[in-house]
Amino acid sequence: MFLLFLFSHFRASLLTGRFQTRSGVYPGVFYPSSVGGLPLSEVTIAEVLQSRGYVTAMAGKWHLGLGPNGTFLPTRQGFQHFLGVPYSHDQGPCKNLICFPPDTKCYGTCDVGETLLPVFHDEKILQQPVNFTGLVPLYQQFSKEFIQKAVTDKKPFFLYYASHHTHYPQFASAQYTGHSLRGKYGDSLLELDGTVGELIKTVWNMGIQNNTLIIFTSDNGPETMRKERGGSSGLLKCGKSTTYEGGLREPAIIYWEGKIKPGVTSELASTLDILPTVASLAGAPFPSVTLDGYDLSTLLLEGKKSPRSTFYYYPPSIDPTRGIHALRMGKYKAHFYTQGAFHSETTPDPACHITALLTEHNPPLLFDLDTDPAENYNLLKPVIPKELEPIVKEIQNERERFLKSMTYAESEINKGKDPSLRPCCNPECTPKPSCCRC
Ligand SMILES: *[C@@H]1O[C@H](CO)[C@@H](O)[C@H](O)[C@H]1NC(C)=O
Ligand SMILES: *[C@@H]1O[C@H](CO)[C@@H](O)[C@H](O)[C@H]1NC(C)=O
Ligand SMILES: *[C@@H]1O[C@H](CO)[C@@H](O)[C@H](O)[C@H]1NC(C)=O
Repeated sequence: MFLLFLFSHFRASLLTGRFQTRSGVYPGVFYPSSVGGLPLSEVTIAEVLQSRGYVTAMAGKWHLGLGPNGTFLPTRQGFQHFLGVPYSHDQGPCKNLICFPPDTKCYGTCDVGETLLPVFHDEKILQQPVNFTGLVPLYQQFSKEFIQKAVTDKKPFFLYYASHHTHYPQFASAQYTGHSLRGKYGDSLLELDGTVGELIKTVWNMGIQNNTLIIFTSDNGPETMRKERGGSSGLLKCGKSTTYEGGLREPAIIYWEGKIKPGVTSELASTLDILPTVASLAGAPFPSVTLDGYDLSTLLLEGKKSPRSTFYYYPPSIDPTRGIHALRMGKYKAHFYTQGAFHSETTPDPACHITALLTEHNPPLLFDLDTDPAENYNLLKPVIPKELEPIVKEIQNERERFLKSMTYAESEINKGKDPSLRPCCNPECTPKPSCCRC
């Protein structure tokens, strides 16, 4: 059994084991009226496992497209059951957000003209607008019942729990509201923590802990433009939407009772590696497409070195003519381009801000992330030291090799929007979208 928790933009990569460039999920993100979505031809983890007899379900944030008649919903991508919001929960009008609770102070804008946020059960709208304070208890019940039924039916299962927490705007159910010293952000984190605990308890109560791999991770750094409600990247530089470490480096916890020896590792791994790892553990063949992930099973089960020694950093607004902005090789990270971001505003470091325009670096900036994880000290200034010439050459060659090997699918995001595609629980009503409430 596999239980995968994801909290918080690289969902396409996570679910396919391939860079989002290969599936066309770039630049930026899908909107409620987006015409495109993750192409159905892509093979997701859910499809890999379903082919091995697993029952599959997903709860929470999808954000890989909705499309005409739900073409791109999770139920069309290998998930037999779905309870959740098909996109990000800030993609609705302020009325649905800032007023929740009514005195909530927000930073930044919301999507005023959008339709009220829906909750889908499989392919049908269950609620519109969503009742945030009751949402996580619903997810929890759905997830628990799914696990219990799978075990009772003696079926292996895959549950993908994609929490809305701790993304803006924060919310929490009554049990968690006002209980954290860290304010609304802390309350949402408490609720996330509580739910993970409940689901792990369900696994233990069903007696399947020694047969269940649990993965807990995230896919992008904090949205510091939300100030104290945006999270923190600690010592790492900048946050979301930059290719500094604060934008992309994430912690992960992987747990398997009796199989994975408790410990801490700093080996390189990526959410791209989840599909190959899970496929390998389930004895499923890899999808016959180019994968960007590695099978981490010997790292996890035998404490071997990670098969991954490189990582390629794409910015959110991918431009194939530039390609990756940075490349990690072992302990070294080279930046070929740097750029600040709207999402990384308000931090004291001006390099994170939107005013830090796209800048090319040739030679690249080079940091030793073992000794300088905050990316403060460029090793190639004022001149390239002789002893670093070989690694710089190796990184440059690897960048060229990677860029030559990349195939960019037609952008699904640039297929544009069609307002008639916005979900409406009351399809015949007028005037849209405000009448879409049930
Ligand atoms: C959606 O499905 C309905 C009912 O099956 C059909 O009438 C309609 O043409 C479909 N719309 C699109 C855009 O495919
Ligand atoms: C939202 O859900 C909570 C918890 O179930 C409930 O107490 C509250 O009445 C609901 N609010 C609305 C507007 O339905
Ligand atoms: C899990 O534990 C049970 C009971 O101790 C044992 O029979 C079973 O073989 C174990 N399964 C795995 C996958 O280790």
